[in-house]
Amino acid sequence: MSLSEADFAYVAGLVRRESAIVLSPGKEYLVEARLLPVARQAGAASLADFLDALQRRPDPAVHRCVVDALTTNETSWFRDREPYTALSGTVLPELVSARTATRTLRIWSAACSSGQEPYSLAMTVQQDLPAGWRYHVTATDISTEMIGRARSGEYSQVEVNRGLPAPLLARFFTPSGTGWRISPALRENVTFQQMNLAAPLPSMAPFDVIFLRNILIYFDVETKRTVLRNVGRLLRPDGYLFLGAAETTIGVDDSFERVAIGRTSAYRPRVPVPANTGGNR
Ligand SMILES: C[S@@+](CC[C@H](N)C(=O)[O-])C[C@H]1O[C@@H](n2cnc3c(N)ncnc32)[C@H](O)[C@@H]1O
Repeated sequence: MSLSEADFAYVAGLVRRESAIVLSPGKEYLVEARLLPVARQAGAASLADFLDALQRRPDPAVHRCVVDALTTNETSWFRDREPYTALSGTVLPELVSARTATRTLRIWSAACSSGQEPYSLAMTVQQDLPAGWRYHVTATDISTEMIGRARSGEYSQVEVNRGLPAPLLARFFTPSGTGWRISPALRENVTFQQMNLAAPLPSMAPFDVIFLRNILIYFDVETKRTVLRNVGRLLRPDGYLFLGAAETTIGVDDSFERVAIGRTSAYRPRVPVPANTGGNR
């Protein structure tokens, strides 16, 4: 049985309202595949019955399950490698020179999925920071299921095989059943919080580095602009923003400038040009 046009429109509207994720026509197969297990779990005889009941009796808890099911949580350790090389080779040395007064760095993984990104950041920083420095990684995602998984710090063998170098597995994980668990020494530097980036953000202290990777692609241009503006307010003036390889601020938000770092690029708050730069009076 395939999803009716009206049911697809209902789901797309709900997901857009709750998460800003755009489900354009053509994604019916995705909606069906992701929501069938949710409908079964709820005891509905079919997806159509499930959606019909939800439209008649809206339930915020079920809305959250629907949104969770329609997030795409693809991730891996040290994803794309180059951002982490840039962090180690350029960004951290520069920030270490600039933060000698506080000897503390704050990092945000703003769409952290199941945790591979924030823990990859923590491993990088922990290896690179001089002795006596502190760091904290804040990891957020709209999906409560992903936040729960990330917080547990438990990964299967298949998951650790996706990009985690063997020496880091040995140093930062302990065996747990048939899988692996993040070591407490790393875990204690990372906190997790459910957060919708498209809604007004809670107040947070500013960050030195923000990873906002592989998330803007799911939004329309207005939402990209809003998210970049809100996230940009939480980036220190000399901080760095990393986006996914297919994402950019260019043409969306000109308060950032792109800087090339090795084989990748990052974004920094643009230094405002004074309105009257020595012109004639
Ligand atoms: C493809 S994953 C990217 C994970 C990681 N940043 C990476 O690059 O590997 C996208 C994540 O964005 C989250 N997401 C989608 N919409 C969101 C929103 N409005 N606010 C916060 N997170 C959102 C999803 O739940 C998902 O875990």
